[in-house]
Amino acid sequence: MIKTIEWVDSKVRLIDQTKLPSVEEYVDCREWQEVAEAIKSMKIRGAPAIGVAAALGIALGAKNSQATNTNDFLKEFEEICEGISATRPTARNLFWATERMRTKVQSHKNSSPEELKQILEEEALKILKEDIEINEEMGKIGAELLKDGDNILTHCNAGALATAGYGTALGVIRAAFDEHKKIHIFVDETRPLLQGARLTAWELKKEGIPFTLITDNMAGFLMSQGKIEKVIVGADRIVANGDVANKIGTYSVAVLAKENGIPFYVAAPRSTLDLSMASGEKIPVEERGPQEVTQINGSLIAPAQVKVRNPAFDITPHSYISAIITEVGIAKPPFGESLRRLAQKN
Ligand code: MRU
Repeated sequence: MIKTIEWVDSKVRLIDQTKLPSVEEYVDCREWQEVAEAIKSMKIRGAPAIGVAAALGIALGAKNSQATNTNDFLKEFEEICEGISATRPTARNLFWATERMRTKVQSHKNSSPEELKQILEEEALKILKEDIEINEEMGKIGAELLKDGDNILTHCNAGALATAGYGTALGVIRAAFDEHKKIHIFVDETRPLLQGARLTAWELKKEGIPFTLITDNMAGFLMSQGKIEKVIVGADRIVANGDVANKIGTYSVAVLAKENGIPFYVAAPRSTLDLSMASGEKIPVEERGPQEVTQINGSLIAPAQVKVRNPAFDITPHSYISAIITEVGIAKPPFGESLRRLAQKN
């Protein structure tokens, strides 16, 4: 299995996704600030992977603390949590993981710094392990939606690289392939940072899952030609009414799918749910630097100094979504009710 992120000898080791697919390089983070930088610069990316990185980063920061009493330790712990959660605004999993680490500390707040360091390390490793198990479960549940002969479009990378392992949308595809279903994947290249071309294509090739790479603007034509039976994507945040934030371009794919009568599925763990938010317009959408649009691999593809917009995510309204696959079941419209039920399930 592809190792996205690990805890090795009290360091956080992650595969540098900005270098893939040409270079397979691992980075060791020895300070929590290095983990924060890795999230910001997208060495590690994808909502569940960001959550796991946050938990491990917090455990790392705690471990390095020189505090000699619990009060000082808790102050430092809070600074670390704030620093880690200020890295990227959209993925719910980042805040979910930080909250889980805070809750753990709250329930042991009379423990010594040394005890708390151990507790936090154990909790972060639990989050990592659970993430893989959740994806495998989601894969099994979602695979029932995919049939022999399906051509499935996916956008961005919702694979092993976007999680601690196995993947969400790609996990569903992986599970269907492992069940010997004859499926074929269309991979959107996913401008501007090419997570589809660089990362999803890399993963599918490694796994031997048949796929064809297309540029984002080809999806509509292929749909109109009857070449795509289903769409499946991941999510960065899913709110109470079922609106979904995901990689920029997802909304366009969803509209095209509806126009062409193609089911549009979202696969995401419950740690991506944000049921405190009523609808999608409140989701903070990250705006990234202009060089991601004006350059590819450091080469300018536009005149220097042009005005650029670079929202990294968009919001797909729930009316375009056929089903949301989670590790405890599949939510169908009306999502307000079905998501609430799945969120409460043991
Ligand atoms: O900017 P990124 O690469 O972190 O965005 C990733 C996505 O939008 C993924 O589709 C999403 O996080 C789901 S990953 C399982």
